[in-house]
Amino acid sequence: MKIVGTGSALPTKIVTNDMLTDFLDTSDEWITTRTGVKSRHVISNEKLEDLAIEAARKALDDASLKAEDLDFIICSNVVNEYVTPQLSCIIQGGIGASCPCMDINCACAGFIHALEIAESFHKAGRVNNVLIVCAEEPTRMTDWSDRRTCVLFGDGAGAVVLAPGNNIRSIKLSASSATDKLWQYRPLHPTPYITKDEQDVPLQMKGQDVFKFAVKAASKDISRTLEDAGVNADEVDHYLLHQANVRIISAIQDYLNQPAEKFPVNITDHGNSSSSSCPILLDECRRSSRFKDGDLIAMSAFGAGFVSGAVLFEW
Ligand code: COA
Repeated sequence: MKIVGTGSALPTKIVTNDMLTDFLDTSDEWITTRTGVKSRHVISNEKLEDLAIEAARKALDDASLKAEDLDFIICSNVVNEYVTPQLSCIIQGGIGASCPCMDINCACAGFIHALEIAESFHKAGRVNNVLIVCAEEPTRMTDWSDRRTCVLFGDGAGAVVLAPGNNIRSIKLSASSATDKLWQYRPLHPTPYITKDEQDVPLQMKGQDVFKFAVKAASKDISRTLEDAGVNADEVDHYLLHQANVRIISAIQDYLNQPAEKFPVNITDHGNSSSSSCPILLDECRRSSRFKDGDLIAMSAFGAGFVSGAVLFEW
């Protein structure tokens, strides 16, 4: 397939590091040096589904396609206010499409997983035009009195439209179960048959374990993807990495031995927006004319599970 349109949408409320010091024992200096984040967009009076629909509409406009041209919609999402129906159905109605749709939850690696699904369905002859929307509100998952987690995240939606083409050169996905490193429980309704107390636990994270996993998994996924496509790291024009921490990005950059200019960063203004981070970064780079036709782009993401993946595609 080929990416023929991109779009993104962000909450209007911007929360700076200094604003966090009003209620947290933290500092701009700590957050900036440890993570690279200066501010983040946080859901307040908008709904995630509206951001998802706005990002989807922008991607369709950019692709000069209409909702009725779509054969499939995939939404990557970890939490939103509905347990059911799936967010992709809400997006389908919001943009006026009528094609089948599905949600996936592959944490922050959702965009790469969605690309693999779209590409596989296309190769099987089932779809031509596919909309992928990643819509996330991780700021609704964290405990805002826990300085170890809440400072990291931001909300938003990113979307792409894919059409037939030969631009995706290789995709590699991986998973390695380590469910105690990054997790959250939500309480289910009691039944007459379940007596245990239901727990409502906000996002829990073993930060240093996640950090090590991220660097290792992304380095390996990108290397496997390049090898599969017969491309060496120097030939890649842009590395778009999941925006979780600038120190993770620079460790991967060191491993690949590539210049910092090839690694666009927007975590400074967005924080970690989970699976939305890759398509938002892609949209911002595209709209700032960073890519030329034929450029090679490697993208990689990792998240809770652990799951990870990388893709190499031609612009
Ligand atoms: N402000 C000030 N101090 C803070 C803080 C904050 N926001 N958060 C943690 N600290 C403190 C800790 O309490 C600890 O203090 P102590 O030594 O007195 O106990 C100290 O800073 C160091 O904490 P530590 O967790 O060792 O820091 P770190 O260098 O590992 O950085 C992360 C923490 C979370 C930034 C880093 O581990 C990370 O980015 N991990 C990956 C997270 C991630 O990417 N998650 C999403 C994956 S999709």
